[in-house]
Amino acid sequence: MDALYQHWFKKTGRTKEKTEEQTQSARFSNHQQASKLNAFFKDNPNQIENSSKGYVSMVGAGPHDPELLTIKAVKAIMRADVLLYDRLVNKDILELASSASDWIYVGKRCGETSIKQSEISHLMVQLAQQGKRVVRLKGGDAFVFGRGGEEALELVRHSIPYEVIPGITAAIGCSASSLIPLTHRGISRSVTFVTGQVVTGAFDAWSQLMKSGQTLVFYMGLEKSSEIQKGLITSGLPDDFPVAIISHGCSPQQQIRITQLNQLKELSKTLKGISPTLIVMGEVVKLREQLINTVQSVTEYEVT
Ligand SMILES: C[S@@+](CC[C@H](N)C(=O)[O-])C[C@H]1O[C@@H](n2cnc3c(N)ncnc32)[C@H](O)[C@@H]1O
Repeated sequence: MDALYQHWFKKTGRTKEKTEEQTQSARFSNHQQASKLNAFFKDNPNQIENSSKGYVSMVGAGPHDPELLTIKAVKAIMRADVLLYDRLVNKDILELASSASDWIYVGKRCGETSIKQSEISHLMVQLAQQGKRVVRLKGGDAFVFGRGGEEALELVRHSIPYEVIPGITAAIGCSASSLIPLTHRGISRSVTFVTGQVVTGAFDAWSQLMKSGQTLVFYMGLEKSSEIQKGLITSGLPDDFPVAIISHGCSPQQQIRITQLNQLKELSKTLKGISPTLIVMGEVVKLREQLINTVQSVTEYEVT
């Protein structure tokens, strides 16, 4: 594990100076956990890692901050021959890869000409068939609104060995870094992740949503806020239902706007084009006012 961290700090140029005493005490308190982890890695040799054939690691890069990567993700990135990465992946994360690795941008953005999904899958399959260790790096978690399932099915179709390494999805990362608990005893017992595309769904989306949860998190919702506001209010949510709009979550540019449901459309107009942005709704949003009091590190606030 030590070697891993040394590599990490060298690669990212971070300095991590500690007194000898601090280091020893951290070592001591983490010792048991580290030995357990080391034993785990020893007892569970990664079949994929030892494979001489090509394979794909589908890796969740989390929301922007490289320190939110899992250790497993860092290891996969470090041993990759080639990385296929999306638009929302922080470029600092690529720096963790070997200098011999190739990086290929396969990002997509609505309204822009970009690589097709079928082309990405084809490229991934081809590289693995050439015997490469491919890392398919996606923002957040690959299996949450990331088309990771579709790409994995394509790998299965071509009999390519692969693994899936989870990442922190935007809803989890952005709500925590904005001090909005997604659930809270007595306030919210469930949370629903929704795509902004819900507005074009054929089914009675709004009443389904009302039943599903007390906290709602909309991915890709900013452009659809007018329909979201109308749909939810028409289905019975109050005008003053609390709303937080979080942009550039988990980054130094993070901004949080607090509003209420009947103001969502107007506020969103002023944020047009700001990406990525996540919308969190529910009474839990109000807890932030109290939680903010003694918090040590939250990047940036803009409360309206
Ligand atoms: C195509 S989805 C990908 C979601 C990703 N797979 C995940 O698990 O977070 C992209 C949407 O996720 C949300 N998103 C991702 N990262 C974000 C961030 N750092 N801050 C705010 N929203 C984010 C935005 O709604 C963005 O439009």
